[in-house]
Amino acid sequence: MKQEFYNISLCNRNSFHVEQQAERLVEFTSEADLREIFAAGLPERWMVFSGGNNILFTQDYRGLLLTPVADRIEILSEEGDRVRVRVEAGLEWDDLVAWAVEHELWGLENLSLIPGKVGAAPVQNIGAYGSEAKDCLLEVECFLPGEGEGGVVRTFSREECRFGYRESIFKQELKGRAIILAVTFALSRTAQPNIGYGDVAREVEARGGATLKNIREAICSIRRSKLPDTAVLGNAGSFFKNPVVDLRKSEELKSIYPEMPTYPSAEGPERVKLAAGWLIDRAGLKGYREGRVGVHDRQALVLVNHGGATGSEVISLARKVQQQVLEKFGVEIDTEVNNF
Ligand code: EPU
Repeated sequence: MKQEFYNISLCNRNSFHVEQQAERLVEFTSEADLREIFAAGLPERWMVFSGGNNILFTQDYRGLLLTPVADRIEILSEEGDRVRVRVEAGLEWDDLVAWAVEHELWGLENLSLIPGKVGAAPVQNIGAYGSEAKDCLLEVECFLPGEGEGGVVRTFSREECRFGYRESIFKQELKGRAIILAVTFALSRTAQPNIGYGDVAREVEARGGATLKNIREAICSIRRSKLPDTAVLGNAGSFFKNPVVDLRKSEELKSIYPEMPTYPSAEGPERVKLAAGWLIDRAGLKGYREGRVGVHDRQALVLVNHGGATGSEVISLARKVQQQVLEKFGVEIDTEVNNF
């Protein structure tokens, strides 16, 4: 059953806690709800608004926001050690990870505690600690309201989703056209620990070894120590993406800053991923504060609302950060968060 709201405050529905309103917001549970909503044709302006964790409003939204709330988890099949699980878009991502760990299913544990809902995971191919949503994702079911007779349901395979670093077809061709209904994952009964990133192995060993529960706890503890809790301090996780630069540029910077972290890029050996957090930190901006907004003091990739800030204040700080990183290192950093 859908629930409908008019001129509703978004303050408690976006993790930055900026005070803006939406003209209309509908919480939907099914394809039937969507068909009903779109029966009269496409509204002039609409978009999916899921957990509000990766979005920054700089003005009121004059249009329709659609929020998925269906949250069932269903085991579709078990073959050997492979378990196919279909999850509806409205489930909190971390509730899915907790469920998988409880059921001794491997694959999602490194993505513990990422804020947001399951339906948002494929959009930017969420990732952390050496894993990405795409690694065990099989397919994504979508409703495309602008196609066929009042909309069609289409299923996209992992290949069709064209995943990349914080990238997918849902941010490109399907942007503004697809509403994700459910995501199917292939999880594993066989242990496959992936603890090579940063401090993960050390934290896992300190808990007694690479069990699913220990890995989840280690990841949660690392995240809690670096990333601010949105309930206390408004933020949207990483505000910037890690930049991918030419090998030549990376070597040039390495010769000046030998301690600069670098990571291989999925784009091939001629490209190198840099750590935007390190660049911002070394530009002297970690903990920097400008009025009601600031750069987090434990992770420079995160911009925070110290209370009562507007989206525009956050944007103006973001521009300053981009500008200073460009001046100091000659590297452009793009935002990960969507602005409206
Ligand atoms: N670093 C600093 N100073 C900082 C932040 C980072 O020197 O203020 C250095 C770290 O010491 C490390 C390197 O930069 O050597 C990378 O930092 P970290 O491992 O903390 O990860 P990240 O690259 O800053 C990415 C994701 C995070 C994810 C972590 C862990 C992006 C944009 N961010 O951050 O994702 O949790 O890796 O895997 O790719 C998010 O997307 O919202 C998010 C939090």
